[in-house]
Amino acid sequence: MILSIESSCDDSSIAITDIATKKLIFHKKISQELEHAVYGGVVPELASRLHAEALPRILEECKPYFRQLKAIAVTNAPGLAVTLMEGITMAKALSVTLDLPLIAVNHLKGHIYSLFVDKEAVFPQTVLLVSGGHTQVVEVKSLNEMKTVASTMDDSFGESFDKVAKMMGLAYPGGPVIEKLAKEGDPKRYGFTIPLQQKKDFAFSYSGIKNAVRLAVEEGSETDYADIAASFQEVATEHLIRKIKKYLVDHPPKNFAIVGGASANLYLRNKVEAMIAPYGASLYLAELKYCSDNAAMIGRVAVEMYLEKAFTSLHQLQATPRAPL
Ligand code: KG4
Ligand code: ZN
Repeated sequence: MILSIESSCDDSSIAITDIATKKLIFHKKISQELEHAVYGGVVPELASRLHAEALPRILEECKPYFRQLKAIAVTNAPGLAVTLMEGITMAKALSVTLDLPLIAVNHLKGHIYSLFVDKEAVFPQTVLLVSGGHTQVVEVKSLNEMKTVASTMDDSFGESFDKVAKMMGLAYPGGPVIEKLAKEGDPKRYGFTIPLQQKKDFAFSYSGIKNAVRLAVEEGSETDYADIAASFQEVATEHLIRKIKKYLVDHPPKNFAIVGGASANLYLRNKVEAMIAPYGASLYLAELKYCSDNAAMIGRVAVEMYLEKAFTSLHQLQATPRAPL
């Protein structure tokens, strides 16, 4: 079995995955959302202190499996430096005391493998990764053949939901709150401009939408918030769909997946389903509990890396806050 640790942002999570069957044996996650909610976003220093409490608490429950472990895996990139360090330090300590090899897992690969927790992987996949830190389209052929074909030039999709919620004085994380509020609103009332429409580049941008929403919030009152949320969600999603639709004409998908925390958004899921229907492509989604950050997805990647003997030495294992796939 492999013990995997995730602490790249505000979720402390540990999983144990069976190597032969790729099945998840144990998984626990302690979220810090409530603690960060008062600040309207993640405070890195607070997050690392909370990881230092939560990770050892979860680890206690893993003790019965220690004798069956063959490797220790940990998210090393990308993420917040100070929170990544919490997981990495624990992984190094376990590696030394239990005399086990280390596996350094890229968090974005983790999100892609969230599709395959408890399952065999299916490739190729055209993947839309939408989270708090990332908005990108990735062509995935295998574990080691992943190519990012588009990404955001500024804010991410999930982050823009968080910021809009904050403008309205609503809870963090903003994604689920805005999605719920949007259900009661008119998505056509505000007609915010869809970004980068004249540009041929396959890229995303959310800063313009954010500023337009800020103006609407400032000029409106609380009674307008549902319409603003619905109009925002509509334009934020339509932006993704229009850009991806153009790309798919020359790159027809066989399988299309949405991963990352914001893949929980049903409005987005429905639009993507309609977008890929003409291609007869299958839509892949992670189970809801594996959409947001978790160690189960990290453990699933680690199994593949273990089979390839892709180990990292103690001194090589570092936190890399900014890293591509
Ligand atoms: O993957 P994740 O847990 O963390 C990162 O790796 O960033 O994603 C968290 C992000 C937050 O920005 C949150 O607001 C967003 O995912 N999110 C959503 C929804 N649920 C979570 N965004 C839009 N609609 C949702 N239903
Ligand atoms: Zn994530």
